[in-house]
Parts: sequence; structure tokens; C-alpha cells
Amino acid sequence: MTQKTTQKLVVANWKMHGNLKQNSALLTDFVENLSALKHTQMVVCAPYPYLAQLQSMLQHTNIAWGAQNVAKNEVGAFTGEVSAAMLTDFGCKYVIIGHSERATAYCESDENIATKFVQAKRHGLTPILCVGETLIEREAGVMEMVVSKQLDTIINTHGAAVFADAVISYEPIWAIGTGLAATPEQAKNMHLFIRNKISNLNIEATNRLKILYGGSVNPQNAVQLFVVPNIDGGLIGKCSLNAQEFEAICHAAETSVT
Ligand code: 13P
Repeated sequence: MTQKTTQKLVVANWKMHGNLKQNSALLTDFVENLSALKHTQMVVCAPYPYLAQLQSMLQHTNIAWGAQNVAKNEVGAFTGEVSAAMLTDFGCKYVIIGHSERATAYCESDENIATKFVQAKRHGLTPILCVGETLIEREAGVMEMVVSKQLDTIINTHGAAVFADAVISYEPIWAIGTGLAATPEQAKNMHLFIRNKISNLNIEATNRLKILYGGSVNPQNAVQLFVVPNIDGGLIGKCSLNAQEFEAICHAAETSVT
């Protein structure tokens, strides 16, 4: 099954980078140079303290914003956590869930990720769920099994219908920050696998699901990746911290649709 995409989605994941001054320069440049795009939804996901800055600089533009994590609980004595309601208070529309950097460094379990995913949806946020295999798993040929298991934790507890209006980002761990992106062929196979897995369970959900690719996307490989069937856009790390590179990636997304 191939989903016909009418709009691409390109998400900047700034990770733990930036400060008020740098962010301001970057956002001003994005707003100036991306305002003409009609077929690409751009999103900037910044560290929590800068969400107010995103709100003030991006409201009334065609760029949305979001966070890089969310608490699994609604409210309460959870020191250091930030709730979904707090994110919507600052105009967030998106939230990244289960990024592998968090899963490894902060021992985030698949069960936690599943709870955060539905918590985000409950508050009207679009969750961007990260899935992907390690290099060892790819070399062993078990990458589809690994991604399937990551999706199953959500499907088994909440059903496949929760993927309607959600985003799955395929981020092979070996491609993140390494400069070694998946080939269009590798990405094509995994994206088709994910699309088929969801469509076998819930056609309506798959029709309303976007599947992004993330991992060393740059302006050059974006041109090849974004025309691949079932690649609905990208989740961009390093290149989202450089205005020219991020904008070129967004323009590649736009051109792939028009
Ligand atoms: P890079 O684009 O720096 O490889 O990071 C990808 C990523 O982790 C996006 O979430």
C-alpha cells in the first residue's frame, strides 16, 4: 500500500542546542525564507525554555512548533517533568516522543513511550513517534522485527486507530548524527513496511498517518529521499541548526510535491 501525500512535513529537532540570540536569528531567517511554501508544513521542536520564544516569533506564520518530550502523567508531584497541557499552553502543536537519544540515555521504556503518545493525543498534540534499529540489528537483518515491536507496544495497548493524525518517524540509530543516511532503497523498504503494518490493522488510520525519515538528512539527500513513496517528510537534527541547510531541505520537500 502506498499513501499519496498531498503535503510534506519537515520537522526541525534542535535537540539541546540554541540560546535566545541564536534562536532569534534562525527563526527570523526561517520565517523570511519559508513563507512562500504551500505544500510543506514546517515545525520547529526546541528545548522547553524556548517554547515561549517560538510562540512569540512563529505565531501568524506557516511554521508550527513543538517540544522534544512530554510527561506521561497529567499533573502532580513529578519534579522536572512538563505536561502535555503545559505544552498546549505555549501553542505547541507537535511533540517528539521516544527519540532514541532519550530511550538510551534516560532508559525510556516502550511502555512509557506508549503512554506519552496517547497522553499527547489526549491533549490535541500531534505525536511524532521515533522508531528505528541499531546497526547491529540491521546487520543481523532484524530491523523490521525491531520496528514492529516498537509499534506493537502502542498497538497492543491502545489499538492502531491512535495512529490517525499522528506521525511516525523512522530514525535508524546508526544514521543519527553520523553523516551516513539510509539509502533511498533502505528507507523505502522500511517506510512501506510501516505503512503496510498499520494499514493491515486500520485503513483509516494509515490514510491519516505521516511517516517521516530522520537520520543525517541534508539538502542533497533530501532531494532523493522525499520523492520515495511513503516518505512524507523528514525529522532533521544537525541541518536544522543552519538556516540555509534547513530551508534547502524544506524547499526539497516542497518541490517533491509540486
Ligand atoms: P541528524 O539529522 O543530526 O542526524 O539527527 C537526526 C535526528 O535525530 C532527528 O531527530
